[in-house]
Amino acid sequence: MADLRERASAELASVETSEGLEDWRARYLGRERGELTAVLKGLGRLPGDDRKRVGQAANEVKTELEQSLEARRSDLRQREQAEALDRERLDVTLPGRTVQRGHTHPLSLVTRDIARIFRQMGFEVFQGPEVETDYYNFQALNIPQDHPARDMQDTFWVQPGQILLRTQTSPNQIRLMETMRPPVRAIVPGRVYRNEAIDASHEAVFHQVEGLLIDETCTMADLRGVVSRFAREMFGANRRVRFRPSYFPFTEPSAEFDIDCINCDGAGCRLCKYSGWLEMGGSGMVHPKVLRGVNYDPAIYRGFAFGLGIERIALLRYGIDDIRYFAENDLRFLRQFS
Ligand code: DAH
Repeated sequence: MADLRERASAELASVETSEGLEDWRARYLGRERGELTAVLKGLGRLPGDDRKRVGQAANEVKTELEQSLEARRSDLRQREQAEALDRERLDVTLPGRTVQRGHTHPLSLVTRDIARIFRQMGFEVFQGPEVETDYYNFQALNIPQDHPARDMQDTFWVQPGQILLRTQTSPNQIRLMETMRPPVRAIVPGRVYRNEAIDASHEAVFHQVEGLLIDETCTMADLRGVVSRFAREMFGANRRVRFRPSYFPFTEPSAEFDIDCINCDGAGCRLCKYSGWLEMGGSGMVHPKVLRGVNYDPAIYRGFAFGLGIERIALLRYGIDDIRYFAENDLRFLRQFS
């Protein structure tokens, strides 16, 4: 018995793995082939005195070996855990991987600025659909089917003659007046589409902001005041604004407006093509036919409308020389506006 105890203890001390532990347990304490189990099973064949003595000793050894087994098991487990911790050690002093933060597109930045400036003058900001009907985009704006003004706005048709991608934000003049009673003071920024050849200053998809003011008393002087205030807020307090007679079917009279060149202050340079002026947009007094079309009485109400190109403002604002950058999604370009 003493020999078995010595042997078992010595072997247990040299076991290094949990499989080894299981093997050791089977060999000494296992139900089938355990050496000690065999001794206990054989007790019945011993004479009475021996049976008691051997039985006692064997049970003591059994208890001892079981305790040793548990102790060894927990030693091994601790060692394995320590090794695992060592293997998976984290260097908490390493700097983390930085997350790339997104930011606002330059056209959105400019649109926000435009909205802020007009809001300060009491205009509300609205949106309208990009898929429009021929009625809102053309007819209600006094551009009938065969009107030559349609040639200036090459149209992407969804259903030829009926449904189209809006070529201008002006249809929102109609939508606003249909849903509001005067006074109306609103701007509508948004995307517009024209089937045009693309180059450094033309895109087939671009953005405009439409402005509309309708009230009982309203003159071109008010239009001029609003547009001038906008130009000065956007491009500097000393900007001069010039109106040139023009033609739009939905305004009468109509005018285009320019600001003095932000690069040369009017002296003449490459940016303004040596004219001293930069084109900003179209405008005019809302045509009586348009007012009548939305059941506004032209004898009571009058108003002005204007349209601005948002890309054009952004190009000037940030000194960019090619409109195509805005839609290319080149991060080297976009990151400059973060
Ligand atoms: N919708 C016109 C265009 O795209 C721009 C414009 C001109 C808008 C005169 C207006 C306006 O509101 O009064 O060319």
